[in-house]
Amino acid sequence: MPIVGSVPASQRPAALIGSSAAIVAARDMIDRLADSDASVLITGPSGSGKEVVAQRLHQRGGRAARPFVAMNCAAVPRDLLESEIFGHEAGAFTGASHTRRGRFELADGGTLFLDELGDMPADFQVKLLRILETRSVERVGGATPLPVDVRVVAATNLDLDAAIGTGRFRADLFYRLAVVEIDLPPLADRRDDIPALLDHFADLEAERGPRPVYTADAVTYLVRQPWHGNVRELRNFVARCAAVLPGIEIDDARSALLLHGERRGVDRWLASSPAPLPMPNRRRPPPFVAADEVVDLKALLSDFEKEYIRDALGKTAFGVAESARLLGLRRTTLVEKMRRLNIARPTIDPTMMPR
Ligand SMILES: Nc1ncnc2c1ncn2[C@@H]1O[C@H](COP(=O)(O)OP(=O)(O)OP(=O)(O)O)[C@@H](O)[C@H]1O
Ligand SMILES: [Mg+2]
Repeated sequence: MPIVGSVPASQRPAALIGSSAAIVAARDMIDRLADSDASVLITGPSGSGKEVVAQRLHQRGGRAARPFVAMNCAAVPRDLLESEIFGHEAGAFTGASHTRRGRFELADGGTLFLDELGDMPADFQVKLLRILETRSVERVGGATPLPVDVRVVAATNLDLDAAIGTGRFRADLFYRLAVVEIDLPPLADRRDDIPALLDHFADLEAERGPRPVYTADAVTYLVRQPWHGNVRELRNFVARCAAVLPGIEIDDARSALLLHGERRGVDRWLASSPAPLPMPNRRRPPPFVAADEVVDLKALLSDFEKEYIRDALGKTAFGVAESARLLGLRRTTLVEKMRRLNIARPTIDPTMMPR
C-alpha cells in the first residue's frame, strides 16, 4: 500500500472534502453512479468544486483506466468548435493539413467533461444532441460516422432553467445531459465544510513547505467569511498564508489582513521591511561619538526601535504577538512602543470585516 504522502497530488483520486449535507449527498451519488454511464450535470457557482466532482465520477467508475478529456465550451471560438469536438479529415478546410481526432474520439472508452455547458452556442447544441443520440461522430470532411463510447459529464454555473425559458438553451439537450443532477451550493451555504477544507489545503501546502497552522479564533473568523469565490478563494487564501507567512501561526487578525487588508497597504508593509531581522546575538557595529559632534541619542534609539518594529510587523503581516516574540518583548510593551512611535496598522476596509 502506498503511503498517501508519497503519491503526488496529481495522481491521487480527487478528494471531495466536506461533511455538509450537500457534499455528503454528492459523494454518495458519485458512488452510486460509479458503474453507470448515465449523463450527469453538475451545477454550482464558480469555484464550488464542479471539476472535482467530474474527476471523481470518472476515477471511481469503470472507465477510470480510460481517458478523462475536459473541454471548456466557453473557451473555444465558435468557428473552431466543430473541428475541436468532431475532429477533421486532412484537407477538410484551408489549414487542415492533417487528420485530427476530436474530443469525442479522444475520450473513447472514458469520460468527456463538457465544462461551461451553458455557454455552448445555440446552433451547436443540436449537433451535440445528435452525437449523444447516435453515439457516433463524423469528422469534418469525413464520410463515415465513427462509433464512440463516451460518458458525458457536463457542468455549468448558469441557471439553465432560465436559459431554457429564454430559448438560449435547448430543453431536449438539457434532459439528455441532466439524467442525474449534482448541485454544489455556494460555500457560504455550507460553512461546516470550511474547517476540513482549511486542513486539507494546509496538508497540500505541507508537501512543499511549512504547513500553515490556524488558531481556533482564526478558524472561527474564517468560517464566518462570505467566500464569494467559494472553495477556490479558500484554497488561494491558504496558499497566500503559506507564501507570505511561512511557519507563522495564522490568527484572526492576520487572517483578516490577508483576506481583506487593503492589498497595497499590506504589500507596502511587507516590502518596506528593511534589513532582515538579525540573527540572535548578532550585534550592530559599536556606535561612536565624534569629539566635535552632538548626538541626539534618544532620537537615534527611537529610529532604531522603529526600524526593527516595522520590520517584525512587516514579516508577520502585522501579527503583534508574533512580532513581540521576534523582538523579545511582551505584547503589551510592543503595543505601547507602537503607540509612542506612532506606528499604525495598515488600513482595513471596515465593510469587509466580519459581521
Ligand atoms: N470539496 C472540495 N474538496 C477539495 N477540494 C475542492 C473541493 N471543492 C473545490 N476544491 C478545489 O477548489 C478549486 C476550485 O474547484 P473547481 O475547479 O472544481 O471549481 P469549479 O466549480 O469547476 O469552478 P469554475 O466554475 O470556476 O470552473 C480547485 O482547486 C479544487 O481542487
Ligand atoms: Mg471548473
